Amino acid sequence: VTIVEVAVLAVATTSIAVLVLDRSVRRLFPRAWAGLAVALIVWLAVVATLTAVSRPGLAVLTVATALALAAVLVRARPEIWRGRALPPGALSPIGSMRALTRRDFYLEQARRHGPVFKMAQYRHKVICVVGLERAHRLIRERSTSLRSSPLPFTHEIAGGFLRYMDTDRHRLYAPLFRRALGRPVVMAGADVTAEVTARELALLAADGSATPTGGVRPGPYLERIVFASFLRVLFGLERTDALAARFSDAYRGLAAHQLEASLSRGAQASLAELREIVAAQGERLRRTSPAPLCSLTELARIDAAQPDAVAVDNLLFVLRLSTANVVSLLHWLLDALGRNPEWLERMRGDQTTGNEPDVIERVVMETLRTAQSEYLFRTVVEEFEHDGSLYPRGWQVRVCVWESHQDPAVFERPEQFCPDRFQRRDYSSSEYSPFGWGPHACNGVALTSIICRAVLTELVTYDVEVVAGGPPIHGARHWNHWQPSPELRVRLTAPATTPVR
Ligand code: HEM
Repeated sequence: VTIVEVAVLAVATTSIAVLVLDRSVRRLFPRAWAGLAVALIVWLAVVATLTAVSRPGLAVLTVATALALAAVLVRARPEIWRGRALPPGALSPIGSMRALTRRDFYLEQARRHGPVFKMAQYRHKVICVVGLERAHRLIRERSTSLRSSPLPFTHEIAGGFLRYMDTDRHRLYAPLFRRALGRPVVMAGADVTAEVTARELALLAADGSATPTGGVRPGPYLERIVFASFLRVLFGLERTDALAARFSDAYRGLAAHQLEASLSRGAQASLAELREIVAAQGERLRRTSPAPLCSLTELARIDAAQPDAVAVDNLLFVLRLSTANVVSLLHWLLDALGRNPEWLERMRGDQTTGNEPDVIERVVMETLRTAQSEYLFRTVVEEFEHDGSLYPRGWQVRVCVWESHQDPAVFERPEQFCPDRFQRRDYSSSEYSPFGWGPHACNGVALTSIICRAVLTELVTYDVEVVAGGPPIHGARHWNHWQPSPELRVRLTAPATTPVR
């Protein structure tokens, strides 16, 4: 009996202890870590007390612990009771936590189990697929059994968010949005992007000169660049417009809302006001001749019935979701240039000619590969088998994009930051796909590219130094993205001009 007791209690103790001893858990989730540490101490105290004073009590604890461990095991290994061809891997709570704290978690699992494996993201059961060619085939061949995995806010949008729309409605709106966010529309806002970028980077440099280290948190400056660019491209609003100021005020409620929850009252009020402002702006643009080219005017040009309520809500949520993507990419670019400063010099002296990507484009592509692009999610709505693996209904599929972009057979020395790889060869979309593919591929490639280009073009006119940084961080949700360290500080030493606030 004693051996059984020791074994059961030791397994339980080890399960908590591995997380308490994991430094990444402590760094990224200090509160959860403290809770686990307290739980471990309490647990050890209970075991020690019962061992000393109550053998029957210890036996009861052992039985209860054994049952709890059995429940975890049964959940972690559903193939034990399903008996079908589920992919290898465990749905374990420890793995669920490690996926949040270790960037190489999925890569490590793929090494151990092969390119298709299962894991848990808290209560969700997930099948992970590494390898874009395999993932393309899966999504293409099982298109009717897989759906985009929606965030809850989509239910509050008239007609749903483009990314999660039902197929028929998506067929109607997707082409409209491709054109409304297409290159000509984005280029019409390029002057605004260049102007706001010059202003904000000058401010960043000036604000840095007032600090002892010269280092400034770049987030607020980058956010203003991205927000102003989106406002011009989507709605034709510029910062001198009174309506733009009203828009920015009203937007705060929606910006503050966390999208994993249904819209709060504040966010709903904000959304209602934003809809009114966009309607007013649409009306104003209709009366203006010639009206500036922007998503609103482009939608109306393609179809006189546009922009309808679905289109307006989608533009507002594109703003809410996609600005964060671009701000994050700009942070990753600064982080990458901080660690690889020779690329600043390469951008300055760029001699690229012809059709191949210039140095700025190569740097952006490599930053997307090494840092920004992570995954796509789909939900299995109908059970099926693919390549010998069972995909049960209700499970999630995670296409591991970042991990696929680390394949040494495709990307020589994948761990190295080497933008020139994009000069040496063309990658097909089944090798390199930072913006997705197929009907749901990203509509924002042109806008992302124009903003990154504006920022990098302006940045290299300064002496740039990343004066502080740290390891990347991750939120507590599995669909959060890795972000560069919040400690990131940048110093720009300016060519002398006076910034305008
Ligand atoms: C760093 C920047 C960005 C990255 C890495 C990115 C990535 C992606 C990816 C991977 C998808 C496919 C999602 C899926 O298949 O489930 C997607 C879809 C989408 N993206 Fe982006 N995106 C970025 C910026 C933008 C911007 C700037 C906009 C708009 C201005 C935008 C608008 C959209 C829309 C509307 C979709 C859904 C398209 C559809 O379902 O028809 N994205 N994006």
